[in-house]
Amino acid sequence: MLKKNKIYVAPSILSADFSKLGEEIRDVESCGADIIHIDVMDGHFVPNITIGPSVIKSLRKTTRLPFDVHLMIEEPDRYIDDFALSGSDIITVHEETTRHLHRTLQKIREASSKFPMEKTGRVFKDILCGVSVNPHRPLCAIEEIVKETDLLLIMTVNPGFGGQKFIEETMDKIKKANNMLKNLKTVIEVDGGVNRENAGRLIQNGVNILVAGNYIFSAKNRKSAIKSLRG
Ligand code: DX5
Ligand code: ZN
Repeated sequence: MLKKNKIYVAPSILSADFSKLGEEIRDVESCGADIIHIDVMDGHFVPNITIGPSVIKSLRKTTRLPFDVHLMIEEPDRYIDDFALSGSDIITVHEETTRHLHRTLQKIREASSKFPMEKTGRVFKDILCGVSVNPHRPLCAIEEIVKETDLLLIMTVNPGFGGQKFIEETMDKIKKANNMLKNLKTVIEVDGGVNRENAGRLIQNGVNILVAGNYIFSAKNRKSAIKSLRG
């Protein structure tokens, strides 16, 4: 579903105008976005609270672009079905938010078959599952599980807020991850502080999905901002 030889730009709607999310999504779609990145925060795992499944469900009607739902919540198992039903195409959890990560990924796969695309309005036939690693966490924390995933999300800022500075030290981890995934279908996504200055290097180091919030939504010309990320 996600190709390793393609670059996807995924605007994070965290930096969009929340009073007109539907319009903002349609706008970035017309400017060339490939995926819509949606940040879900619970005020526990991260010090911020954003949106939940009901908002995602209403946004589902505004676009046919895939929804990449980034769960920054404790005990994500409790909400997997709700996010599947709201039309998520990709569901990503943080490795340290669940005691049994393997079971959580199984739950995402089960939700995918339990709620077929016709029922939820998602774009992908199957829901893809992702695991995310925070800047301070080592790749060995996910080494055993990565083959079960479709996507590895490497955080390039500490999660919680848009508009933060890219943490340069994560670049090495991206190179290592690329090596770790070389025989797998799992793609690498990066999230946080992505802009035209680092996009080229990120792509060179094996990244397939570039999430960008502030850089795209605050740009005067969103079309050229998106284009500038493709390298
Ligand atoms: C941070 C979020 C990001 C954020 C990225 O916790 O997961 O998706 O919106 O925003 P920028 O690109 O502004 O750093
Ligand atoms: Zn995110």
